Amino acid sequence: MCGIVGYIGHREAYPIVIKGLKRLEYRGYDSAGVMVYDGTSVKLSKTKGKVSDLEAKAKEITTTGTIGIGHTRWATHGVPNDVNSHPHVSNSGDLVIIHNGIIENYEPLKKELIKRGYKFHSDTDTEVLVNLIEEVQKKENLKLGKAVQVALNQVVGAYAICVFDKKKPDEIVAARLGSPLAIGVGKDEFFVASDASPFIEYTSNAIYLEDEEMAVVRLNKPLKIRKIKDDSLVDPYVQELQMNLEQIEKGGYDHFMLKEIYEQPSVIKDTYRGRLHANEGLIQMAGVEDNLEKFLNADRILIVACGTSWHAGLVAEYIFEEFTRIPVEVEYASEFRYRNPIINPGDVVIPISQSGETADTLAAIKLAKEKGAFVFGVCNVVGSSISRETHAGAYTHAGPEIGVASTKAFTTQITVLTMIALRLAKAKGTLSNSDFHRYLQELEIIPEKVQEALETNDVTKTIAAKFKDSTNCLYLGRGYNFPVALEGALKLKEISYIHAEGYPAAEMKHGPIALIDEHMPVIVIAPKQGHYDKVVSNIQEIKSRSGKIIAVVTKGDTQVRELADYVIEIPDTSDALSPLLTTIPLQLLSYHIAVMRGCNVDQPRNLAKSVTVE
Ligand code: M6R
Repeated sequence: MCGIVGYIGHREAYPIVIKGLKRLEYRGYDSAGVMVYDGTSVKLSKTKGKVSDLEAKAKEITTTGTIGIGHTRWATHGVPNDVNSHPHVSNSGDLVIIHNGIIENYEPLKKELIKRGYKFHSDTDTEVLVNLIEEVQKKENLKLGKAVQVALNQVVGAYAICVFDKKKPDEIVAARLGSPLAIGVGKDEFFVASDASPFIEYTSNAIYLEDEEMAVVRLNKPLKIRKIKDDSLVDPYVQELQMNLEQIEKGGYDHFMLKEIYEQPSVIKDTYRGRLHANEGLIQMAGVEDNLEKFLNADRILIVACGTSWHAGLVAEYIFEEFTRIPVEVEYASEFRYRNPIINPGDVVIPISQSGETADTLAAIKLAKEKGAFVFGVCNVVGSSISRETHAGAYTHAGPEIGVASTKAFTTQITVLTMIALRLAKAKGTLSNSDFHRYLQELEIIPEKVQEALETNDVTKTIAAKFKDSTNCLYLGRGYNFPVALEGALKLKEISYIHAEGYPAAEMKHGPIALIDEHMPVIVIAPKQGHYDKVVSNIQEIKSRSGKIIAVVTKGDTQVRELADYVIEIPDTSDALSPLLTTIPLQLLSYHIAVMRGCNVDQPRNLAKSVTVE
């Protein structure tokens, strides 16, 4: 988490850094800070709060200068206050650092530095790092790049850093291990950032540093990238960016989340375009074709992910087992990595991640690889750590997802996973020909149905107004829609701060039913296909206990309508594809409730978009 930006070139750095920080604010928004070098002195401003607070505070300093670095923080060490905000400055005042990550061994390093006379003003691990670099620099009389390298070889943890040295003001040193870092290469200028969004309008040439690499970014000099461990030179690989400015702006919507909800018909299409050929009865996914034997010989599939991506994994479990008859297990990456799991070379591990940077998922991938499994990633961000760490994979084509609450990532992940399952089912003969063709046709027209499901916006808004002051909420679903219930509850709690839980509907009677009274809204996902009659019985059980029922039903439904207090109608589709539709009104409901409660929908409290710490 945390976003970092650096600029060195011929333009004014401050506006570039501030705009960049605003684009990276999804990565953390506890505090923000900036440093600008005006040719003679360092100007620094930092504050608790958002980048807009920083802008107000930075009015106290002069912000001219063509070198600058900035930081937006998700607090790990030390409370979010002005002092703990980045940039941090070394004791001499010469070195300035911004850091995304955690230095795990900062305490012994700090003790050692204190013994040598260093003073610390913040509670952060980052202030330890900048003083460690200074100590190395002084002791061994090294240039900044070399000192950074020697210091980094002493630290344990994760980092993406930019370091500036007042004594050598024509360069920025950048380095990464575990946290992402991109370098934008322009004409006579360089940008350094946690992702490419801060420099998209200036250059489409980017270099993504690999783990354990560092770069000395120098004015009017070719970029040098080296391995931190052994100092060997690395050939920079310059990539052409696929992102455009429009994708990272709100485009007339009040919030990124709403924009992203409405993008789902088109991004689902983007995700299956060129892969799904319904008329020819074909699924063509290069990564799957190249590794078909590994999938077909798999003893089992293990899905690892976190949060919403984990929910997509649960939907995939139902789909894979039904379509391919390959046993599937779905694990929280954070549990998997620490519980000595049984992984065999015959296993296929599928990590799912929107950002491609989630620390726990990355660690789970590394563990699976060590144990000899084949690892096939489902990821949204091209060039991200997860996409590079996996043996092969398939991208979702959701485009940048900026709202912290994941929406379009979820439906595009399900789309990719459904296509993989269909391809394997075809190869294994585990689906009848007619079912296979029927699913292809249905998936092809799902974007139109998602579009129709978006028309529930008005009714969800009316329902949101009724329940916006609730303190608790239950979400129930069965089969394919049990994970959708979990996802609906997560969406509500993370952006509106209403306590919400999802359950398989039949589990109600094993405990949660005790919570039901006339104040409890219960959202029941009850599409016609699937376990409809069973869900109707569950609704009756809630009704007899006076719970308030909000039901998501298939268009034309009459039975549930008689029982429920409110119904939201979505188009009909097969049971297996229904999560792509049922999830839409739940996203809208959470969105409207959060807006009505005055919550910051795109940047909910305590959260960040990419969770790069464990
Ligand atoms: O980037 P990832 O998909 O790996 O992120 C995993 C979770 O942090 C993420 O899905 C989180 O739960 C969502 N922001 C919830 O909306």
